Amino acid sequence: MRASRDLVDTARGVLEGNWMGRYTRPSQSLYPHQWSWDSAFIAIGRSWYDAARARQELETLFEAQWATGMVPSIAFDPAAPPDAYFPGPDVWQAQRAPAAPRGRPTSGITQPPIHARAALEVHRHAPPDQHAASLDWLARLYPRLVAQHQYLSRARDPRGTGLAAIVHPWESGLDDSPAWDRDFDRIVVPPGVLPPYRRRDVGHVAAADRPTDADYARFLYLLTLERDADYDDARVVAASPFLIVDPLFNAIWLWSEHALAEIAGLVGADPAPHRAAIRRLHEALLGELWRSERRRFCAWDLRRDQREPEDTIVSFGPLLDPDLPESIVSVLCRELESPSFHPRRDGGLHYLVPTYDERAADFDPDRYWRGPVWLNTNWLLWHGLRQHGRVALAEEIVASTLELVRRSGFREYFDPLDGSGHGSDRFSWSAALCIDMVLAGRQAHERTDPRPRTGRAGAR
Ligand code: SER
Repeated sequence: MRASRDLVDTARGVLEGNWMGRYTRPSQSLYPHQWSWDSAFIAIGRSWYDAARARQELETLFEAQWATGMVPSIAFDPAAPPDAYFPGPDVWQAQRAPAAPRGRPTSGITQPPIHARAALEVHRHAPPDQHAASLDWLARLYPRLVAQHQYLSRARDPRGTGLAAIVHPWESGLDDSPAWDRDFDRIVVPPGVLPPYRRRDVGHVAAADRPTDADYARFLYLLTLERDADYDDARVVAASPFLIVDPLFNAIWLWSEHALAEIAGLVGADPAPHRAAIRRLHEALLGELWRSERRRFCAWDLRRDQREPEDTIVSFGPLLDPDLPESIVSVLCRELESPSFHPRRDGGLHYLVPTYDERAADFDPDRYWRGPVWLNTNWLLWHGLRQHGRVALAEEIVASTLELVRRSGFREYFDPLDGSGHGSDRFSWSAALCIDMVLAGRQAHERTDPRPRTGRAGAR
C-alpha cells in the first residue's frame, strides 16, 4: 500500500513538472507542446486529484479544434523555444487550411479519438462539491466531441464502411509500428523533395530508441503532400499514398462513442445517434478487420486493398468493444498469452505487453513502437480485458506495468526483455496512467472489500 502511495506521489510530481499553465506537455525536451491523445490520458490521471486542471487540459486542447471538427495531433505552444521540436509550425503551415484555428498553430493531422472517454472519466472522478461545475463543463464539451466524431465519419471514410482511415502513421499514435510496414515501406521519397532538415528527437534521446531516418523521411514526405494539398480532406484522402484503417484507432473511436452516448444522457442530449454509430462501428470492425483464419484484427491498407498480417498490439484494440463476441475475445486472449506476447522465460525477466510479436525476426525491444512496452497500450488492454471479465490477465498487465515503473521510472517506453526504460524520462502519460491504474484498482478493491482502512484514502 505504502509503495503504491509513493508511486502516486512521484507520478503527481511528474505531472506538476510538466504542467505549462493551461495544459501538460508530454515531456520536457522531446515533446514541448500539447499533444492530443497525450492530453486525454493525462487528464484521466490528473482528475483523481485535481479535477479543475483535468478539465482545463481538455478545454485547452479543444480550443485548437479545426472548423471541420478535426482535433489536431499537436497544438503548438508559441511560448516554447522555436527550435524545441521538429517539425514545428513553420513546417506544418496549418494556416493554409481555412478550417484551421486562427492564432493557434497546430499540426494538420489528427490522433486517436480517446477524448470522449477521457471526458467521461474526468467527470466520474469529480469530487462531489465540483459535480455541478463538471456537468457544465461536460455540456460545453459535448458538441465539440460530437463534431470530432462526425469529422471522422464525414472526412475519413472513403469506402463508406463506417471505419475511419488514417492518412499518416502519426495519426495512429503508433508511428513506426510494423502494423503498416508493408504499406509505409513502399512509399518512395523522391530525391530533392525534402529540404535539408535536422531531426531534433535524436538530439534528446538515443537514435536506437527512435524511428529510423528512412521512416522519418517518409513521415516528412507525407506531411509535405498533405500540406501541399492545403490539408483539404477530400484531396488528401484521394491522393495519400498512406491510407490505412487501423483496428486500434477505430476501436478507440467505438469505445469513445459508448462514452459519448453516456455523456449525452448526462447532459440531456439524445443518445440515439451514438447508439447507431456504435452499431455501425461494431459491425464494421468485425466485418472488415477481423480475419478468423489469421486469428487477429488486421490493419487494412485501402490503397492496395490488403489486410496486413503483422502481429502487433493494434490487433487487440477491439477488446475495447464491450459487444465483442466471446469467441473472438477468447482467441485474442489466447494470442495475448502466447509466446508472441507473453513469453515465459525461465529465471529471466519479462514484462507485459510488448507492442510487437517477440518472435518476429524484426522485433526490436528498444525502438519506439517496434517492440517496447508502452503504458497507454497496457492501460487500454487493461480496460478491454476487464470489461470482458478477463480479470486475471488484466491484473497481470497492471502488475507488470507497475513493476516496470518502479524499476525504471516514468519512462516513455520499456524494453520487455529486461525492463530498462527508453525514450524520454518523466513522461506525462506514463505518470498519469499509472495513477489511474493504482487508484482505480484500489477503488475497485474497496468496493468489493469495504473494511475500513488506515492511512490516506486515494490521493485526493
Ligand atoms: N510521435 C511523433 C513524434 O515522435 C509526433 O506525433 O514526434
